[in-house]
Amino acid sequence: MDKKGNYYIVGNWKMNPGDKNEARKIFNGVKKASQRKKSEIVICPPFPYLGIFSSERLPKSLHLGAQNCFFKERGSFTGEVSPKQLLDLKVEYVIVGHSERRSLGESDEFISKKIRALLDLGIKPIVCIGESQRDKNGNYIQFLESQLSSVFSEVKTGEVNRVIVAYEPVWAIGKNEGEAITGRLLYEMVVFVRRFLSRRYSKEKGFSVSVLYGGSVSSVNTKDILEEGKVDGLLIGRSSLDSESFSEIISIAEDL
Ligand code: PGA
Repeated sequence: MDKKGNYYIVGNWKMNPGDKNEARKIFNGVKKASQRKKSEIVICPPFPYLGIFSSERLPKSLHLGAQNCFFKERGSFTGEVSPKQLLDLKVEYVIVGHSERRSLGESDEFISKKIRALLDLGIKPIVCIGESQRDKNGNYIQFLESQLSSVFSEVKTGEVNRVIVAYEPVWAIGKNEGEAITGRLLYEMVVFVRRFLSRRYSKEKGFSVSVLYGGSVSSVNTKDILEEGKVDGLLIGRSSLDSESFSEIISIAEDL
C-alpha cells in the first residue's frame, strides 16, 4: 500500500465462532471499529456467515473475504463454493493456500488454479506461503521460492499487483507473541519476496505487491511487525475473534 498508515488488516476467523449470534456480535464490534479508518479491513468468516453479513451496509473501509474457494464457476463439485457465488455475496478477497488447507492435501497446482479463477473475476487472492520449520542450511528459502513460483505461475505481468502475498511461517501460527517472528527477521522475508517478484517480473512489479504477515499477531507485537517488518498488513487468526483486540490492532496500525 502506498500511503502511510494504510494497512491491510485481515481477520481469518477459521471455523469460528460456534454460532451466528456470537458471529454477529464480533462483526458488529468490527463494524464500529472500522468507521472512518484509512486501513483496508477485511473479515473472512466461515461461508454461512458471509451470507448473513453480505446484506449489511458496511463502512467504506470494511470488506468481506472468504477463507477458501474452488476454481470452477459451477457444476457437480459437492461441498465446494465457487468464486462467482462468493462475488454474489460481495466478497472482494479470498484467502488461498492457507497452511491449514495445504495440510489437508491442497497442492500448489490446485492453489494456482484457484488464484487464476479469482483473478478472472476481479476478486483479490490473499495467498499464503510459509515454511513449517527453519533449518540452519537455509533450505526453507528454496521451499519458499518453489511455493512462490507456483503461486505466480498463472499470474500475468499486468495482474501481479492484484495478488496479495501473506507470509505465514507455519511454526509461528497459533503460538504466543514470544514465539512469533520478530520484525527484524520478518523484514528479511519481505525483501526476499520482493526480490523474487522483481526477478520474475520487474523491479517496479516487485514493489507493487502487498506482502502481509500472519502468525500469532496480537496488539502486543503489531507495532514491531508493521514498523520493523515493513509489511503492508496483517493476517490475524485468534485475535480477530475478539472485536476489542482486533480494534486495538487497527488503532495501532492507524497511528503508525
Ligand atoms: P493466529 O493464526 O493469528 O491464530 O496465529 C494466523 C493464521 O493462521 O492465519
